[in-house]
Amino acid sequence: MHEIADFAEQLAREAGDLIKHEREHNPLRTDYKDQTELVTHADLMADKLITDAIRERYPDHRILSEESRPDKSQAADLDSPLWIIDPIDGTVNYAYGQHQVAVSIAYAEGGHVQVGVVHAPFVGETFRAVRGEGATLNGRSIQHSGATKPRDSLFATGFPYTKDKLAPLIKRLEVMIHHCRDLRRVGSAALDICWVACGRLDAYYESVSPWDFAAGRLIALEAGASAGHFTEVPGGKPADLWGQDLLISAPGIYDELRSLLKSAS
Ligand code: IPD
Ligand code: CA
Ligand code: CA
Repeated sequence: MHEIADFAEQLAREAGDLIKHEREHNPLRTDYKDQTELVTHADLMADKLITDAIRERYPDHRILSEESRPDKSQAADLDSPLWIIDPIDGTVNYAYGQHQVAVSIAYAEGGHVQVGVVHAPFVGETFRAVRGEGATLNGRSIQHSGATKPRDSLFATGFPYTKDKLAPLIKRLEVMIHHCRDLRRVGSAALDICWVACGRLDAYYESVSPWDFAAGRLIALEAGASAGHFTEVPGGKPADLWGQDLLISAPGIYDELRSLLKSAS
């Protein structure tokens, strides 16, 4: 697994250098996916860099990458190793020149994520975990915040690009904001989760796609955080890759937050 983790980190750093260089030296080129979702030329370039390199080195492995016409049903196919990639998590931040942007790369076998790397090139931070071996930020071991009370907890969440299903999310937000210290909307799910892993946040919840959370979730678990769902994971779906109604937090507040979110769902 170390070889895989080193390779994932090398790719995340190369893609990170590419997107940073593009943003700092070239005009921003943007487009829209499905009419609403912003995508930049750098997303596509980074996607190609990472997926070409994986295909060359591991031709038998499957790839689920946000910008390579992803087929999410791949996450339920447990037969061969799967790479799960978000070439830029935080594209809106990237377009606005904000620095909370990450390259996220996870590697799974049998539906279990074994390696996760989340690299934030603008701030020079690399989060990394190998299952069973702890989590690091720039090579130093990290731990969750140790929060014990929702009232003293800082949480993050996010909202989808489409505006048609916002009502239930606003209901959850209302409950959370009443019971917790405050909210941060960081704009990158991968970083939200890594920030729970290193104690900059106490909790994170959202419904996202596998590439948004697969690497971060392993990093958070390896940093001692709790991770699960506040609604049921359908039978036969690997929980490691199921992004609906995710909750990741310091263990001391997990059960209470889960009940709050359940009550609002
Ligand atoms: C988005 C970010 C955001 C989350 C959205 C994601 P993208 O990913 O992670 O924080 O709220 O649901 O789609 O589009 O920047 O890769
Ligand atoms: Ca994303
Ligand atoms: Ca993305």
